[in-house]
Amino acid sequence: MEKKKLIYLDRNENHYGPAPRCFKVLSKPNFNKLSAYSRDFSRGIKSRLSERLALDFGIEESRVLLGYGGEDILKQIVHCQLQKGDKILIPAYSWWYYKAIAEEVEGVKVEYPLTKGEKTFYYDVDEMIRLVKTEKPKMILVASPNNPTGNAIDLSELKRFLNSTGDAVVVVDEAYTVFANPDTSYVKELVNNYHNLLVVRTFSKYYALAGIRIGFALMGTNLAKFSRFSARYLGYNRLSERIALAALDSDDYYSEMRVKMLDDIEMFFNEFSALPGFTPYKSLANFILVEIPQEIKVPLKNHLLSKGLVIKFMDEDNLRSHVRISIGTQEENRMLMDAVKEFVNS
Ligand SMILES: Cc1ncc(COP(=O)(O)O)c(C=O)c1O
Repeated sequence: MEKKKLIYLDRNENHYGPAPRCFKVLSKPNFNKLSAYSRDFSRGIKSRLSERLALDFGIEESRVLLGYGGEDILKQIVHCQLQKGDKILIPAYSWWYYKAIAEEVEGVKVEYPLTKGEKTFYYDVDEMIRLVKTEKPKMILVASPNNPTGNAIDLSELKRFLNSTGDAVVVVDEAYTVFANPDTSYVKELVNNYHNLLVVRTFSKYYALAGIRIGFALMGTNLAKFSRFSARYLGYNRLSERIALAALDSDDYYSEMRVKMLDDIEMFFNEFSALPGFTPYKSLANFILVEIPQEIKVPLKNHLLSKGLVIKFMDEDNLRSHVRISIGTQEENRMLMDAVKEFVNS
């Protein structure tokens, strides 16, 4: 029997794929780039990619860090700054990985709530400020937009929060930010004004380059210890760097893709809202969280699988009757929505 090809809409990958320029890098093999270390460091920079990002974001190259995905940078900052017994504030309903890295260093996890509104989750900044005062955490993680809830923190609310965090290191995970907000100008102001702040971004999501494993971070001026911790003296993956640079030069391609994805997020929101028993939450990322009737969880999963469609059925405290759907191509999204409707109407 021929094996059915599955369409994975469960890991927040970007199915439009990277810009054509990225493939050109791969079609021009260069012996030297594969066999020699980069010499970018002899120019006093980490890499030509950090140099370019510094230019794009308008901050010094020394405050742009590179890593093996956002995943790696998040792990590094926790390992560098948090010691056994130190408290770390983590959003309730967030990427499981935050808890895992806190556990690696035996940090004490304190969850702060994300409030569930009618159509969106939101950060309760008053409560976050209260927890900073009472718990005195060493580190605070904020995800904007948050995975899996899809909500972001408003810039003014983030600043209000950052005004209250004192010496704590604040990490804002912006892995999904560009889908809803391509304007990067606020990042410079943030990391210039808040010295203990680290803003983490990635090429995996918007740029559809999860496979090349490149993430980067922009940091405030108090994090020099972390900058030394994360330095890689022999350079970075030279192929990945080139591919990432090609992506940064492909604005037209990504803007077109972005419009389609935003349209489809809206399509999912509207069509799920119209289905009895389903509650979608507004999302500013490339996925959408939808509450579904608990009793259909297993049969819906089986029905979608029979159509070759895989989405994420959540299985976490307070999110047991929810699914998270990654936004695929327009064709895939239509296929998924139709398959759900077919199930509901059967
Ligand atoms: C919230 C969040 N942050 C960061 C990442 C890290 O992605 P990467 O390591 O590919 O940059 C992910 C991946 O799914 C994520 O969901």
